[in-house]
Parts: sequence; structure tokens; C-alpha cells
Amino acid sequence: MVEQIKKLETEIRTTLGNIKDAVELDLFRLKYLVKKGSIAALFEQMKDAPPSEKPIVGRELNLLRHIAESEYKELKEKFNSSSPAKKQIDLTLPGRTHFTGTFHPTLRTMDEMIDIFTELGFGVAEGPDIEDGYHNFDALNFPPDHPARDMQDTFFIKSDKDLLLRTHTSPVQIRVMQNQKPPIRCIMPGRVYRNEAINARSLAEFHQIEGLYINKKVSLAELKGTLMVFAKKMYGENSSFRFRPSFFPFTEPSAELDITCYLCHGAGCRICKHSGWLEIAGCGMVHPNVLRAGGIDPEVYSGYAFGFGIERVTLLRTGIDDIRLLYDNDVRVLRQF
Ligand code: DAH
Repeated sequence: MVEQIKKLETEIRTTLGNIKDAVELDLFRLKYLVKKGSIAALFEQMKDAPPSEKPIVGRELNLLRHIAESEYKELKEKFNSSSPAKKQIDLTLPGRTHFTGTFHPTLRTMDEMIDIFTELGFGVAEGPDIEDGYHNFDALNFPPDHPARDMQDTFFIKSDKDLLLRTHTSPVQIRVMQNQKPPIRCIMPGRVYRNEAINARSLAEFHQIEGLYINKKVSLAELKGTLMVFAKKMYGENSSFRFRPSFFPFTEPSAELDITCYLCHGAGCRICKHSGWLEIAGCGMVHPNVLRAGGIDPEVYSGYAFGFGIERVTLLRTGIDDIRLLYDNDVRVLRQF
């Protein structure tokens, strides 16, 4: 038997010397090292060896198994560490960069506007996106046949004719008046919805910040003063503004606040429809009917209100000339701000 063991040892050594890759190494394992392999077969045969030979045969066989297994392990490690996947690591390559998220430009504008108004003493209030016709229109002094109620302009909730997606943040004024006693000084940021064609200047879903101040003897001069302080803080001391008479059902008198066009600086261009000015807010003195709807006596109190479109303000600050770019979610655009 010792003879047989020596023969197998020579065979194993030669085979090991010729192994070139992991596949050949595995064939080696299957031939010699597994339970039904050649080494195990000799162990099996040992049972029939004469008792005097058994200790030597056992020692020789154990030795052979040990040699075969440790050589196998060594080769296995060698083939693993030189496998293609590991070889290809190039430590000189630059690492992968992960961009951290940032606030969306619209949200940033909104936060900044809220900061300025809170500094000026305004609190912050919110109302529901799904409104009823009363808060969105009637309480704000819209006549029953006002075109804004038209199916063309307002998204109505199908299952309930009286529910709609609010078309502006002004209904929050009514909710605040119904819940607080004057003096009231707050802003109301939020999302608004209009059934409008989407183009470079308008979206069907956008954001507004509403403002409301109610006290005894509030004057138009205070409205003008507050908006000018805000606008200069937001756009810088050098920007120029104008108040232009306008009409809203919920204010009397009403005005619009314009800023010099950021693209043409007043010369006239496509963005400002060649007027040199861009409208950034509607405002006015709160209509007595609106005060009444809010449970406030117009004989005792007066107030002013205003509403800014946040996307419009964001375009002015970023120089983006198409409002749709804000929501295309192209990181190449958003990453710049
Ligand atoms: N709600 C108006 C709109 O969506 C904006 C507005 C104008 C709000 C005048 C006001 C205001 O509070 O006084 O176009």
C-alpha cells in the first residue's frame, strides 16, 4: 500500500505543478480531494491492510492529504487575488462624486420672502388647497357671474360641485379673519391652481404669498411703504418699482406693483411684453364686504392686502426666462441656484 501512496503522491505533485487556472484547480479538487476522490479511496482501502502496516499507511496517507490540501489552498488564493475584477482597480482614478440636494429655487424664494415679512412683524398662516366656492369667491366679493368661476379658469372637484382647487391664496384671508381678532398682521404662503394653458409665463399650478394687515385706521400709505421696504430688501436698493391702478373684487382701491424688467432693464422685450415693466404683486385696501365676511366691522377697522406670485419673483431673481424650466426638474438648471 505504501507503494500505491507514493505513486499517488508523485501523480498529485505533477498535476499540481501543471495547474494554470482556477478551472484546472477545481478539476484537481474533484479528482483527489472530494469524498469519492483518490485519497479518500486509499483511506477506504486501509481497512484491508495487514495490522502491522496500518500505522505506517495511516501516517503516509495523512501526510499526503495534508500536502494536497495545503497546496490546493495556496493555489486557490493565488488565483482569487489575481482574478480580473481585482486586477482592474486603478487607485489613480478620481472618486465618484455624489451631489447633495439643495432647496428648489421656488422654495428658496418663498423662505426668503417669509423671512423678510416676519422681520417686518408679520405672522404666518396657512389654509387648505381644496377650498369651497364661498371662501374662494363669494366671501371675497366676487359677483356670482364673475368669469374666474368659469370652468375654463377653475379646477372644480367632480364629485362635489362646491369644492375646487383654490385659484389664489386670498381665501386664507377670510379664514384668518374668522379665527383672529384685529389687529391682524400675517402672510399666507401656499400652492394655487388654475385651468390655464401652460406657456413660458404661466403654469397651471404655482405658488403665492398673500399678505393681510387689519387694524384701526390703516392707510394706503402704509401698504405702499411696507411693499416698498419688502421689495428693496428682496431686489436691492437700486431696483425701481411703480404702483399702477388696477381692479380686484376684494380690494378698493386696488393696485399692482411692477418692477423694471430684469431682461431689458426697461427698454422693452418679449418677457415684459415690450412695456419695460413686470407685474409682481396685486394689492389694495380690503373691501368692506370682505371685512364683513370675515366678521370684522368695516366702520371700526380697515386693512390692506397683497398677493405675490412666487414663481414670478423667482424668475426675476434667477434670470430664468421660461417659467417651465423651474419644474422640468433638469438638474443642470436647478443645480445653478
Ligand atoms: N388674489 C390675486 C390673484 O391671484 C392677487 C391679489 C391681488 C391678492 C390683490 C391680494 C390683493 O390680496 O389685495 O391674482
